[in-house]
Amino acid sequence: MNSRRTRIYEGKAKILYEGPEPGTVIVHYKDDTTAFDSQKKAVIDGKGVLNQRISEYIFTRLNNLGLPTHFMRTLNMREQLVREVEIIPLEIVVRNVAAGSLSKRFGLAEGTQLPRSIVEFYYKSDELGDPMVSEEHITAFGWANPQDIDDVMALALRINDFLSGLFLGVGLKLVDFKLEFGRLYENEEMRIILADEISPDNCRLWDVKTNEKLDKDRFRQDLGKVAEAYQEVARRLGILPEAGVRDMQGPDTVQ
Ligand code: TMP
Repeated sequence: MNSRRTRIYEGKAKILYEGPEPGTVIVHYKDDTTAFDSQKKAVIDGKGVLNQRISEYIFTRLNNLGLPTHFMRTLNMREQLVREVEIIPLEIVVRNVAAGSLSKRFGLAEGTQLPRSIVEFYYKSDELGDPMVSEEHITAFGWANPQDIDDVMALALRINDFLSGLFLGVGLKLVDFKLEFGRLYENEEMRIILADEISPDNCRLWDVKTNEKLDKDRFRQDLGKVAEAYQEVARRLGILPEAGVRDMQGPDTVQ
């Protein structure tokens, strides 16, 4: 690791460093994996490389569609250059099919198709265990205003439409996923753009034919073959790193 760089923040799965120019940040994808508020932890070799590659691919597609994201470019197998944003402290979950906490909360069998896509908000706080919140909480506590919430919802639903089609095209069902947004200040104006990552760490992806889980639920539920599942997602998207599994660990840092 290059110690000359200034570390801004270390999260559970990523490290942020100061970028080369003002207004930029370097995101480093780790192999560290956690679930259930870090009660369950492991290092999954190659996960960071796969998530970087999958997220790069999806964010590039979104940028090209005119859906604004923080992604600028990939620096190496584990690192991306992104725009610095002020993260809105919310996790936005979009659900198409019942699974996970929704199934639990409402007693819905996992795999039940939802009557329409559902958007939920959670307050980003590890200490509090990311509690679910309503628009009332969000506006009352000043995390976002009603206009911001409208923008976030509209972007989240457009991303859901695009991603559902993208994954269906490669035989995967997008069950649900989590997004984070940030505020970008440019020429006295503020725009809300997509931040964080989109990868099997924060999506549920099931094989269309067999319902096999190809996402972080393999880790949460001890199903095994976690990296293999992420690799299969990359393979189906046609973006498996060329060197294959052997090279998945990648360089720690090339800077
Ligand atoms: P949930 O069913 O556990 O609420 O998860 C919904 C989606 O959000 C699922 O695709 C996994 C993702 N997620 C995260 O990315 N981070 C989290 O901390 C949690 C709880 C879920």
